Amino acid sequence: MDTFFASPEPQICRQLSEASRGRGPRIVRPSAAADPVQDFARSAAAGLASPPRRLESRFLYDAQGSILFDQITAQPEYYLTRTEASILAANAARIRALTGPTNIMELGAGSAAKTDNLLRAWLERSKAVCYFPVDVSLTALLGACKSISARFPAARVIAVNSEYAEAFPLLSQLSPVLVTFLGSSIGNFSRLEMTSFCLALAASMRPGDFLLLGLDLVKRSSVLEAAYNDRAGVTERFTRNIFARMNRELGSAIDLESIEHSARYQAELEQIEIDACFTKRQAFLLQPPGRAITIAEGESVRTEISRKFRLEQVIPELNRCGFGTEQVFSDERRWFALLLLRRLPRYSGQSGRS
Ligand SMILES: C[S@@+](CC[C@H](N)C(=O)[O-])C[C@H]1O[C@@H](n2cnc3c(N)ncnc32)[C@H](O)[C@@H]1O
Repeated sequence: MDTFFASPEPQICRQLSEASRGRGPRIVRPSAAADPVQDFARSAAAGLASPPRRLESRFLYDAQGSILFDQITAQPEYYLTRTEASILAANAARIRALTGPTNIMELGAGSAAKTDNLLRAWLERSKAVCYFPVDVSLTALLGACKSISARFPAARVIAVNSEYAEAFPLLSQLSPVLVTFLGSSIGNFSRLEMTSFCLALAASMRPGDFLLLGLDLVKRSSVLEAAYNDRAGVTERFTRNIFARMNRELGSAIDLESIEHSARYQAELEQIEIDACFTKRQAFLLQPPGRAITIAEGESVRTEISRKFRLEQVIPELNRCGFGTEQVFSDERRWFALLLLRRLPRYSGQSGRS
């Protein structure tokens, strides 16, 4: 597999045509993408400087974090992946009928296991499909490329190793395109962050292009809390791993045994809140930029939120951000929803021309 680091955006077309000549999947990194270690160092120093302390959840996914996340999806309590996969399996052909023959860009693809359903439906109707998984985790992308090229030799795969927004400038070249954002990853954004994300995505897409969005719906708190507190302790290891990553990459020497994982449903905000709670005081240095941090005994660091959605609220919000609803797919229990949305020609949150 060819790996290109620092790929200027116009090269995507050349690489796509090379991929289409059967040279296998390739991994590109947009030239504007930040250096991952410096980015982590800057963000951790800012987020840990003073209470309320937080780390950006995208840093949960280094090589080890991606492996742990895949293990989480297999836990009996973690209904999200299984439920979304079953909705996709039942409706992929219908989704393809509604979108027609598009390219597919998947944001936060991870191992892309559920995407099999879409690729199969696309390849049942066309000889080839161009698939662009985007992920900050190189480990996840390597795994996704390997398994997709083994199962779908007719898929032309160009993986983009970057943050979501760094891949948006590619979208205008890929139209007609279906953007997929699965796993309810959008729930990791605060409401404000989600609005900015959707507006930026809509501004990068052409009118008429599609977005397939996975949303975890509001449900009983016991079901939600169980999903983020699996009995095997994998989610706890996942939370601790962001500090292990800090030790590995930023030399912080944090005592990992002093960290307790806490995942609680905050009913008023309708979100799971995941915190690392420190049972012992920790004083450490983050290198670079050499920032000294002290976390007191009993203090906690927010590592992730996972917002839960109500369709009657989220659909109008998406509409204001430029996405009209084509169809809503769900499961029998109404635990999870897949929204097939379409970039509107005009919308209220729009700035400038479409
Ligand atoms: C919750 S997992 C979901 C994976 C997969 N889509 C699924 O549904 O199982 C989130 C994925 O998005 C990636 N990710 C998280 N934040 C990201 C960001 N800001 N930019 C790009 N990828 C990101 C992670 O590496 C991870 O693979």
